[in-house]
Amino acid sequence: MRILVTGGAGFIGSNLVDVLMGQGHEITVIDNLSVGKASNIAHQLSSERFHFVNDSILNVNTLERLIRQADLIYHLAAVVGVKYVVDDPLGAIVTNVRGTENVLEMAFKYWVRTVIASSSEIHGKSAEVPLHEDDDRLLGPTTVGRWSYSDAKAIDEYFALAYAKKGLPVSIVRYFNAYGPRLDPKGYGSVIAKFMTQALRDAPLIVYDDGRQTRCFTFIEDTVRGTMLAATVPEAAGRVFNIGSSQETSILELAEMICQLTDSASEIQHVSYEQAYGVDFEETRRRVPDVSRARDILGFEAQTPLKDGLQRTLAWFKKEGMET
Ligand SMILES: NC(=O)c1ccc[n+]([C@@H]2O[C@H](COP(=O)([O-])OP(=O)(O)OC[C@H]3O[C@@H](n4cnc5c(N)ncnc54)[C@H](O)[C@@H]3O)[C@@H](O)[C@H]2O)c1
Repeated sequence: MRILVTGGAGFIGSNLVDVLMGQGHEITVIDNLSVGKASNIAHQLSSERFHFVNDSILNVNTLERLIRQADLIYHLAAVVGVKYVVDDPLGAIVTNVRGTENVLEMAFKYWVRTVIASSSEIHGKSAEVPLHEDDDRLLGPTTVGRWSYSDAKAIDEYFALAYAKKGLPVSIVRYFNAYGPRLDPKGYGSVIAKFMTQALRDAPLIVYDDGRQTRCFTFIEDTVRGTMLAATVPEAAGRVFNIGSSQETSILELAEMICQLTDSASEIQHVSYEQAYGVDFEETRRRVPDVSRARDILGFEAQTPLKDGLQRTLAWFKKEGMET
């Protein structure tokens, strides 16, 4: 197949590209390298089946040319993470809303099956456990910048579902804390990337609050597999799927595991959210996916135990991650 991956030089996108290339597909990546790295895809450049376009999804002429030639689209390009969204709210909103609108409009015009990447952040500060795809959303006020990411992704989902109603085969995947090789330590603030970098430098591991808040960390291989199933299982069209592990881990447990795995002399230091992010900061204590829909329709379940995934991530960080 001829497959277009937007954001294919990023963390999830480049890992997806590796699997798709391994299956013999012809892959085009569009990425403006705002956060993604050429080094994530450099090893593919020598293949005739791989094409890289250094441009923005806001450039509709380029996008139209690429989508016209595609049999399938994985739309992952986005401004990701609280830090970027708070620093440049306008840029983030435009990329995350207009960019997705562009992709879906062209996908509809040329009738190309599409998967769009959404986020567990959709649920905001909902205290529901586990979070089902159809559960209510609970967000803070518009004056707290971080919630714009959640709303932008929600608008993306509304667009996708509206096109699905017109018959376009489009699926939505909501990721829960993906981690693995190519996580950007300077990026949107994955706690695993931060802890690994701190531990490998024997610097203190900074744990916010009491560290008893939990997340469900999902190894990238599982994230990629779930994404590909959403693109290929016929019944996935028109639906939203949680793609994540249901294994809940507290941030403190994670810090301890990483100290142990790295054999680090680092201490664990607790810092309040207020000290770290200021008074406006709002956080969710738990975010656990209900994975039953992905299991029943896609046959998907995350399989990689956290310890194994952390070891594989650590191997990459030791070799390459510390230089990036
Ligand atoms: N990593 C996670 O745990 C997670 C969780 C929830 C949702 N997501 C979603 O998954 C997708 C991929 O995330 P990621 O973790 O790989 O992040 P990432 O930042 O590594 O990847 C995003 C890519 O999009 C590119 N990009 C940004 N603006 C662009 C533009 N205007 N035109 C072209 N390319 C542009 C960036 O350069 C980057 O390579 C995103 O849509 C994100 O919202 C990720």
